[in-house]
Amino acid sequence: MARLVIVSNRVSVPTGRRVEAGGLTVVLRDGLRKADGLWFGWSGDFAEQPGPAKVTTRGKMSYALLDLNQDDYKGFYYGFANGSLWPLFHYRLGLVDWKAESYRAYRKVNLQFASELIKLLKPDDQVWVHDYQLIPLGEELRKLGFTGTIGFYLHVPFPSGDIVEVLPAHVELGQAMLNYDLIGVQTDRAHHDMLDFLERWIGAEREGEDLLYAGRRVRTGVYRAAIDTLGFGKEAAVAVENEEVRSLEESLGGRTLMLGVERLDYTKGLPLRFAAYEHLLATHEDWLRKVIMLQIAPVSRGELAQYRALRSDLERATGRIAGRFASPDWNPIRYVNQPVPRKILSGYLRVAQVGLVTPLRDGMNLVAKEYVAAQDPQNPGVLVLSRFAGAVEELGEGALLVNPLDIERTAEAMRDALAMPIDERIDRWQRCMEPLRVWTARTWYDAFVHKLHEIADANSKLAHAA
Ligand code: G6P
Repeated sequence: MARLVIVSNRVSVPTGRRVEAGGLTVVLRDGLRKADGLWFGWSGDFAEQPGPAKVTTRGKMSYALLDLNQDDYKGFYYGFANGSLWPLFHYRLGLVDWKAESYRAYRKVNLQFASELIKLLKPDDQVWVHDYQLIPLGEELRKLGFTGTIGFYLHVPFPSGDIVEVLPAHVELGQAMLNYDLIGVQTDRAHHDMLDFLERWIGAEREGEDLLYAGRRVRTGVYRAAIDTLGFGKEAAVAVENEEVRSLEESLGGRTLMLGVERLDYTKGLPLRFAAYEHLLATHEDWLRKVIMLQIAPVSRGELAQYRALRSDLERATGRIAGRFASPDWNPIRYVNQPVPRKILSGYLRVAQVGLVTPLRDGMNLVAKEYVAAQDPQNPGVLVLSRFAGAVEELGEGALLVNPLDIERTAEAMRDALAMPIDERIDRWQRCMEPLRVWTARTWYDAFVHKLHEIADANSKLAHAA
């Protein structure tokens, strides 16, 4: 069997102590173990003159980790990937900070990845590249002579071509994408917009879901990122016995918990969520002293100004809400910047009667799925979900949907969730669970890898026939 090689910017090498990885990481690792695979990416370290990737072997799989030059990394990661592509792909044109030198650093780091990776590749390896940090990697591998099968998976939204066009490098990036054999995205909507962009802006010819360009056939498809639904549910059921989870529950003093968990990122709609909560408290006095909102938001990408500004905004909002509504024995809001270990988090999600997932835009949002999976089937909580999260394509039937910009209606949805009778909660939860039982992290992995194998077989038959 061909070897599978996964490439991503961050690589989480298991430490052997605690399982801290998310569902997708775990499933990728399991898959690689079975396929004698290799995971290639950034080591997390800097070097003035980075050398070749350092390879370490864990059982049947290996990790190859590359140091990067710090200035290059800044341009690549903060400058272009998170200063331009991230806001652009999340429909935030006003935040796009285009700098030609950042784009050059992005290309340079992608070339460095390719130049070091190619040294480790065998001709029949199947390569699976992950996410917006590495869009040009496939093209660079092709330029260096790799002819094997390469797939690309985008973990963020893909906006309409009118938005992508704003990026001065959109043609180069579009052309780079067409060097892959397979491109997977998270949602029907992203799929539609990506096909349209590659056809109308880049000039690829469409044949169903395939794109033909420069003599190459690029397959595309929707592969919804997912979780280990039953596993996470079991973990949550056990976690409620955990001391930290119990301590949270006791601290509520019988009050209802609404919980939000995400990286501190402007795409997550946190200031609007806080405003909606404030509106709820202002307009529904009957809920005063009966509800607590806990927001867990670990700090992320703190070197970027927008992220620092967001942090101050939320600190102010937290203080304002507390100042306006708190009494000596009740604080309506708890705001936590520390990350919470996944195991404990699953218990928190189960304890929360309302799960708040209200991003302004999100590729999928796995927390929404985790919230559903973590619930007690006899007494499930209610998910309040943004229409702009990719997860809406699966959870739209059971969740209470909101437009996060509409503060008043979001507050009403919070109230409806808090007051929802048990029958409706069970009914909605079951509707959310249905797709999650069928499509899990494992099916996501299998579907993508199976397609890569299929393409590799088809390509090698073509090569033999030629
Ligand atoms: C989120 C996105 C991923 C992205 C990751 C990067 O989880 O959904 O698509 O790869 O952030 O996070 P980082 O901390 O590496 O910037």
